[in-house]
Amino acid sequence: MMIAELSNITKTYRTSPEAPEQRVLTGLNLAIATGATLSISGPSGCGKSTVLNLLGTLDQPDAGIVKLFGEEVPYGNEIALSDLRAEKLGFIFQLHHLLPQCTALENVLIPTLGGSRRPDAGEAADRAKRLLNRVGLGAHMDKKPAQLSGGERQRVAVVRALIRAPGLILADEPTGALDAASASLLIDLLLDLNKEEGPALVLVTHDPALAGRMAQKYRLTEGGLSLG
Ligand SMILES: Nc1ncnc2c1ncn2[C@@H]1O[C@H](COP(=O)(O)OP(=O)(O)OP(=O)(O)O)[C@@H](O)[C@H]1O
Ligand SMILES: [Mg+2]
Repeated sequence: MMIAELSNITKTYRTSPEAPEQRVLTGLNLAIATGATLSISGPSGCGKSTVLNLLGTLDQPDAGIVKLFGEEVPYGNEIALSDLRAEKLGFIFQLHHLLPQCTALENVLIPTLGGSRRPDAGEAADRAKRLLNRVGLGAHMDKKPAQLSGGERQRVAVVRALIRAPGLILADEPTGALDAASASLLIDLLLDLNKEEGPALVLVTHDPALAGRMAQKYRLTEGGLSLG
């Protein structure tokens, strides 16, 4: 089964009626199979975050089709969209976006608190604790983000992305704020969780060494993706 398919996607930005339009994506195609791991690299401004936002339903193409889990994205239906994001997609960003007033455990549980189909609170807490232990944060669950190291905060963000067992993890420069050793450990963790839990993993990174650890390496240039 294809987890995600982008077909002939065009995305153009125009900041004002007089400004020239900027063609960012021009007929882009991408198919992501169950359990796939892939990287997207390319120069700053080439459209990597735009692709991730399209996969994450945070943005809509000008033309072309975005299918997730076999179905076209229900743009315009905010309830269906937010359920889709909460239940089937996991986002990890360069900056962790943890809530400062909440503990690591509470942050991980936030995606379980909203939406039409909430998981059982006890089961969610058990899974959160199991995953936090799994990523080496068993002793840090009750700390707030300010009391954690940068690498620990990113691991909390990874667990938060996985808490509802999504089919697709979208990671936009998740190691951008980490030193090389912590970055490598975070990628180890993402790949281990990909094997154990099976979500497809899309990693946007500038780092060729990290990109090379994904099964498929894509470059985004001139509005389209190419392998290699
Ligand atoms: N909402 C927007 N309005 C206007 N232009 C935008 C908007 N979002 C992105 N762009 C433009 O589209 C281009 C692609 O942006 P995008 O964020 O996808 O690049 P990127 O490849 O992720 O870059 P980086 O590596 O610096 O994160 C950029 O030139 C950017 O200025
Ligand atoms: Mg970006």
